[in-house]
Parts: sequence; C-alpha cells; structure tokens
Amino acid sequence: MKKLFIKTYGCQMNVYDSARMAELLAPIGFCPAATADDADMIILNTCHIREKAGEKIYSELGRLKQLKEERKLTIAVAGCVAQAEGAEILARAPQVDIVVGPQSYHRLPEMIARIARSGGQALETDFPALEKFDALPNDTSPGGASAFLTVQEGCDKFCSFCVVPYTRGPEYSRPVWQIEEEAVRLVARGGREITLLGQNVNAYCGEGPDGKWSLAKLLGRLARIEGLARLRYMTSHPRDMSDDLIAAHRDLAPLMPYLHLPVQSGSNEILRAMNRGYSADDYRRLIDRIRAARPDIALSSDFIVGFPGETDRDFAATLALVHDVGFAQSYSFKYSRRPGTPAAAASKQVSDDIQEERLHHLQSVLGEQRSAFDASSVGRVLDVLFEKAGRRAGQAIGRTPYLQAVHVENAAPYIGEIRSVRIDQVFPNSLKGRLASVREKAMDH
Ligand code: 5AD
Ligand code: SF4
Repeated sequence: MKKLFIKTYGCQMNVYDSARMAELLAPIGFCPAATADDADMIILNTCHIREKAGEKIYSELGRLKQLKEERKLTIAVAGCVAQAEGAEILARAPQVDIVVGPQSYHRLPEMIARIARSGGQALETDFPALEKFDALPNDTSPGGASAFLTVQEGCDKFCSFCVVPYTRGPEYSRPVWQIEEEAVRLVARGGREITLLGQNVNAYCGEGPDGKWSLAKLLGRLARIEGLARLRYMTSHPRDMSDDLIAAHRDLAPLMPYLHLPVQSGSNEILRAMNRGYSADDYRRLIDRIRAARPDIALSSDFIVGFPGETDRDFAATLALVHDVGFAQSYSFKYSRRPGTPAAAASKQVSDDIQEERLHHLQSVLGEQRSAFDASSVGRVLDVLFEKAGRRAGQAIGRTPYLQAVHVENAAPYIGEIRSVRIDQVFPNSLKGRLASVREKAMDH
C-alpha cells in the first residue's frame, strides 16, 4: 500500500473534495498517511480566495521540495490555486508532478498512471463538472456523524472582489437523484447530519423527477430519509433567499436553526460597488422574515473591511447593521486585491493601516455578540450530536443545533448519536456541558 496525505486549505467545499479524492485513490492502492513525512503522495488542496491563501501554497511547496530531494514523493496541487494558476505552478515549482483543478480531480488515477509511465508533469484544469460527479466512486466505508455533500458548484454572481466565478466556473447543480443517493449512502455509513454545500447553495436549481427543483424542495425530500436527523446548507447569497426556503426553516424539523448568510458590508454604496444586488435595508428586512419563520435561528455572516472607496461613514454603516442584526458567529476579512477581478482595478484602495484598524474594531464587536449568544445557552438543555472524542478520556465533542461546539465528560459512548446536554459554561471557542436526563430536556421547552 502507498500512503497518501492530503492537506486541505480554505472552505468546506475543499474538505468535501479532499474526502472524495481519498475515496477515489483508495482502489488504486493509496491509504491515508498520518503525516506528510511518511507519505508517498501529497496533495495540497488549495484556496485562492485571498492573497495570503495563495502565498501559503508556494511556501509549503518549498518545504515539500526538500522532502522530495530526500526520497521518492509525488506532489499534486489541487483546488482553486491549481485552477487559477495552472501551468504557472508547474513552471515555478518543478517539484510538482500534478496540477488538477476542482472540476477535474476525477482524472487523478489516470494522471498518476500517466506520470508513472512516462514521467514528466500532468495538468488538468477543464470544467467538466457533470463528468466529475458521474465518475466518482461510491464509498461504503464508515464515515463521520456529520458529513458534507456538495450539491452545487460555481458562481454566476460576479461580486467585484471575488475570484470564485473564475476558479470554480459557472453555476452547476447536481441532479436530485444523485444527491439523494449520496445522502442515503452517507446515512448508511453512520451520518446523522448532512451539510449541503455550494458556493451559492441557495441558488440550487437541479433536475428533479418533474423539472427543476429548488433547494427548499431538495431539503424537503432529504428530510424524509430515515436516520437523518439534521440538515444544514452553506454558503447562501441574500439574493437567493427565496420564500420557499424561508418557509422550510419553519416547516422542516431536521433543518437546523443556523444560517450563514454573508452580508459583506452595511453600506449601500459599498454593496453597490461590490455588485451584491441588495441594500443594507433589504438585508435587514430579509432577516426579519427569516426570524419570523424561525425565531431562534442563529445567524452568521462574512464581512469585508477596507473595500476600495470605503470611508469611515461606510464602515460605521457596517457597524450599525451588525448592531441591528446580531450575529451568533461571523468571519471577517481585510479586502484582498485579487488580480483579474473588477475591484482590483479600483483607484481608491484603502491603506493597510486603516484596514487593520477597522478589522480589529469589527472583530471586537462581533466577538461580543458571539459571546453574548453563547452565554444565553448557559443553563439550557440542548440536543448535541456527538462527533468525536475529546482530549480527555471519556470526553466527547459535539455540536448544538446552533453549531456551537460542546465538550461533555463521560459522553464517549454516544459518539455518532444525539443526546440532551445541559450547558454549564462558556469558553472562547466552545461550550461545556453535561448529559441531561429526559426530564430535564422536557423542562427546557
Ligand atoms: N478579499 C477579502 N475577502 C474576500 N472574500 C472573498 N473574496 C475576498 C477578497 N478579495 C471573503 C468574502 C466571502 C468569503 C468566503 O471570503 O467575505 O464571503
Ligand atoms: Fe464570490 Fe460573490 Fe459568488 Fe460568493 S456570491 S462566490 S462572494 S462572486
């Protein structure tokens, strides 16, 4: 057996792709390596969203070059940097054997065979999304309690800062039957929770038995799978938050009360320059409608500070929106200039000092909101899906419906199951709780 090590950068879609690559390479003799040091093949599954993410890859490739000088090693670069830079990687880093884009990785076995046969380097960066999903194998080995399932890829929105429409290509939705089959398989492998993934997952529009199906309709179908207790989806665009999807948050019990709905900015001028297609008040109204359907929903967002032309007033509008909405969780970034995107050419770039200052300010406000949300869970009894063992013996780590991580002692036997947990304490990145009795759970409602 040869050993394979996959290092994953970036978003959950890459996590999903990495898992599929491992499944794809198992039949040709690759088993997982614990570290890069004892691997025969290393795949870097890369992210191109911000400049730093791209730079990391070249420093990692430098380290791998040394490793390769000491012994035989196959190095592959997959993911969005592979898609964006393609042949440039092969030229700049001759130690790389394979460059494969996110829509072409089903061709890895053939590429590995090709370089074994005739040496040299191999490159595949086409966009045959359909072909990829048809070509991937159906793994039946045990998987985790919480699984990812990519239902949609690519993006047609062209936000002016973003490389995704170029690296992941146009929107493509997988057909309903194919997703359902994969979901049933994930549940048979021990999955209790499935997160449907897509760059623009709520724009999902896939072929169903009777024409095109929306994400809401797809969720309704998956909610009926026996043994599947929880459904989630990410990442969504506010523009595609349709009425039927909002209603699904009211009507579908397995659909968890958590929604990642990136707003990016609270300034109308900046939202316009970003080409987001909504105003700050549109977003506020949307949140009101979602909360009317599911009052306890936990909201999460992405923010960009220091977008070209962002003034103090624009930034204050972002803070005002954060104040009005209240987020349980969030991700915020300094604007990063990405070559080839419209915003990169804008004249009024914001200095790094100002970006830094605004990021710091925003993160402290968002951190407070997150702590307040977590603190409101203390004393409550929540359902926790236990996913893995904790650091201490007998301890298990799971997640609440609101996606908060929880540590619980003496819960190891329940990994893979949902149990009621009384929340006792809040830590910066997790909660601590203890197993609750059925009676305690009943009293919480
Ligand atoms: N600069 C900074 N942040 C970005 N994002 C996407 N492109 C950029 C960029 N050029 C952020 C957005 C998006 C998240 C995945 O990454 O907030 O929602
Ligand atoms: Fe990028 Fe905008 Fe598409 Fe999201 S919606 S992937 S931010 S272009």
